[in-house]
Amino acid sequence: MNTVFFKEASEENLNKAAAILREGGLVGIPTETVYGLGANALDENAVAHIFEAKGRPQDNPLIIHMPDAGWLDRYCGDVPETARRLAERFWPGPLTMILPRDPIVPLRTTGGLETVGVRCPRHPVTLELIRRAGVPIAAPSGNTSGRPSPTTAGHMLEDMQGKIDAIFDGGACSVGVESTIIDLTVTPPRLLRPGGLPLEALREVLGEVAVDRAVTDALKEGEKPRAPGMKYRHYAPKAPVTVVAGDPEATAEYIAERVGEKTGVICFTEYRDRFPACTVEALGPAADREEHARRIFDALRAFDATDVSEIFAQCPDTEGLGLAVTNRLKKAAGFHVVEVQE
Ligand code: TXA
Ligand code: MG
Repeated sequence: MNTVFFKEASEENLNKAAAILREGGLVGIPTETVYGLGANALDENAVAHIFEAKGRPQDNPLIIHMPDAGWLDRYCGDVPETARRLAERFWPGPLTMILPRDPIVPLRTTGGLETVGVRCPRHPVTLELIRRAGVPIAAPSGNTSGRPSPTTAGHMLEDMQGKIDAIFDGGACSVGVESTIIDLTVTPPRLLRPGGLPLEALREVLGEVAVDRAVTDALKEGEKPRAPGMKYRHYAPKAPVTVVAGDPEATAEYIAERVGEKTGVICFTEYRDRFPACTVEALGPAADREEHARRIFDALRAFDATDVSEIFAQCPDTEGLGLAVTNRLKKAAGFHVVEVQE
């Protein structure tokens, strides 16, 4: 299959890409979080092709994307007042809400679940594509299953060229980690995946929010996460990753004592000169959590084009976007984490 690459957000290109979606094709779509692999969420065949192209297990549900909160009642069974309040405050933006499924959404899309994840992305191209297609768009992250999520159209091409109908280039993602997922079908609401909207912002609106154990800890053998995609190892480069947590000065020192020529290092920009012999990916200044989020997947992906045989990563704290970045790093490491004392 020849994958068409759309670059300009012209009338003609938007109409062409929307038509592909409406007719059951697959299009790589830009969002503020990561690129998605989009298809008509109501078309079981199209949805089946998403699973195929990603090599994704069939029981891992897809979230559906809509252009505004006005579509909630069409695709969700019972929309609680809290969902409307969150949508009002944070949509369009990096928040996915788990709500009861309306039967119009195929079980193939929800991985057999009676709930559905809904999100309104903050990217003009994708909002326009959904409006023109006239159907909700199911879109997982546009990576091959298990690889780091794509934050540029180029990343998406790496994984999907020849497997999907088109990719729409909308520039580099401004947030860089996937949406925050909150389950509103349980009391208190439960954070299933930390993401581009900080937990602190959700608590301001909702009060108490429980945090699913899969967010911070490795699950035991056989233990099932509530968000089926929150499995143990994910986002992983080919070389094994060790996350080093603690004060940045102490973690830089810990890593510097252990590296060799074939070591990859993910570090804060202030510390990059400590590893002259290594392949280094800088995450941005230690205090800039937004930049860490924008850089993390690109950094993890970059090592696969090198011959590094191990990777050490400095780890931010869990405040704000730090919770999402820490979660992605720990999962890339299969929860292989070293805590360094000062
Ligand atoms: O930012 C994002 O959310 C991106 C962009 C493209 O919108 N999409 C994304 O989709 O990250 P995906 O499929 O890579 O991750 C969605 C996660 C998976 O872990 C899945 O298991 C979980 O959401 N999920 C989806 N529907 C669910 C449901 N009904 N109940 C629990 N978890 C659900
Ligand atoms: Mg994903």
